[in-house]
Amino acid sequence: MAVGVWLFGARGSVAVTAMAGASAVRAGIAGPAGCVTALTPFDGANLPGFAELVFGGHDIVETPVGKRVGALADDGVLPAAVVRAIQADLDAVERSIRPAPRTGTQAVQASVIVEDILAWKRRHRLDHAVAINVASTEPAGSPHPAHTDLDRLEQALAGRETALSPSSLHAYAAMRAGCSFVDFTPSAGAALPALDQLAARERVPYAGRDGKTGETLLRSVLAPMFATRNLPVHSWSGANLLGGSDGASLAHADVNAAKVASKSRVLREILRHQPEGHTRIDFVPDLGEFKTAWDLVTFSGFLGTRMRLEFTWHGCDSALAAPLVLDLARLTTAAHRVGRTGCLSELAFFFKDPLGDEVPGHGLADQWTALCRFAAELGGAAA
Ligand SMILES: NC(=O)c1ccc[n+]([C@@H]2O[C@H](COP(=O)([O-])OP(=O)(O)OC[C@H]3O[C@@H](n4cnc5c(N)ncnc54)[C@H](O)[C@@H]3O)[C@@H](O)[C@H]2O)c1
Repeated sequence: MAVGVWLFGARGSVAVTAMAGASAVRAGIAGPAGCVTALTPFDGANLPGFAELVFGGHDIVETPVGKRVGALADDGVLPAAVVRAIQADLDAVERSIRPAPRTGTQAVQASVIVEDILAWKRRHRLDHAVAINVASTEPAGSPHPAHTDLDRLEQALAGRETALSPSSLHAYAAMRAGCSFVDFTPSAGAALPALDQLAARERVPYAGRDGKTGETLLRSVLAPMFATRNLPVHSWSGANLLGGSDGASLAHADVNAAKVASKSRVLREILRHQPEGHTRIDFVPDLGEFKTAWDLVTFSGFLGTRMRLEFTWHGCDSALAAPLVLDLARLTTAAHRVGRTGCLSELAFFFKDPLGDEVPGHGLADQWTALCRFAAELGGAAA
């Protein structure tokens, strides 16, 4: 049965790589490397198949998906065979991407989003859809009084107030359209008490936030090693160089600050203190779709002997992120199928700044154990 995946930011690198990758896997010309849900612990979890995913979305730009595919191919993200695979699906994908509403009150914009999603669900006869935010990171904003309570939020919107950031408006409208919601970005998204209440009212699950694909992924593996070997960490500094349009948006100071804040939690939580050092993110256009992270860790061992660790990570941003978007679509759909509502903290494995009161820690191994347990529960509940 077809399952909808509605992407906010549908013409961006991560979205287009996810759609192209799903086409390639469906056509049998690429394997699911990088997709966690292709591993055996997920075999019995009643996940929708990659071939069952139907895409649609919103974007504020009109760049044709075909043009974006070409640019990703030129940058070495999409191999020629994958470009050919998506050609067959391009028209359908292009028809399913709507212009993001940008005028009128937020209540009006929310109605447009809801209508667009419902029309697309009807057209494709979709029982359920997951909406995933892969739009540009927004600057961190200050909380609006209506964020704490759903009734107050809906009164504020009805009173023509601008109460939500764009990502939270996406979450609000997606849930109102009966979609599960995932925030792959560091933006506010569903991380407001009022939207947690909305998820309960609409009986949908949600998860977030900020996909973990590079430096933070490595930190979530290495920091537990220092902690469990009782090796005190004194400083941890990181420099991240990014190209691409994500890098360009992170060149804005307030957006950069939102991303750095999202990355900062993992060390503090695992090491139980904040080591010295800073994490920087710089835009280097020549890197295109690739990113480099350099980290330097200083630590001490027995008798205070001083030591250091350095690592360099060269990653292709969208190739790392897109399979996780497909994983999150499959897992959130399966969670909805078994009646889960509200925050899915079991999906912390995927995120830099995981949401939920019951997050299974910030170390990757603990998060993996929780994810596998969740997969077993999904399978058990479906049986
Ligand atoms: N690539 C990774 O490894 C990774 C990891 C974690 C998080 N992310 C986050 O995922 C997001 C997408 O990354 P990307 O590389 O695809 O960026 P991108 O700049 O290529 O794409 C973002 C897209 O969002 C669109 N957009 C902006 N505002 C919008 C709005 N209000 N409504 C709808 N669309 C809107 C833009 O026009 C653009 O097409 C970013 O927020 C990034 O920080 C990416």
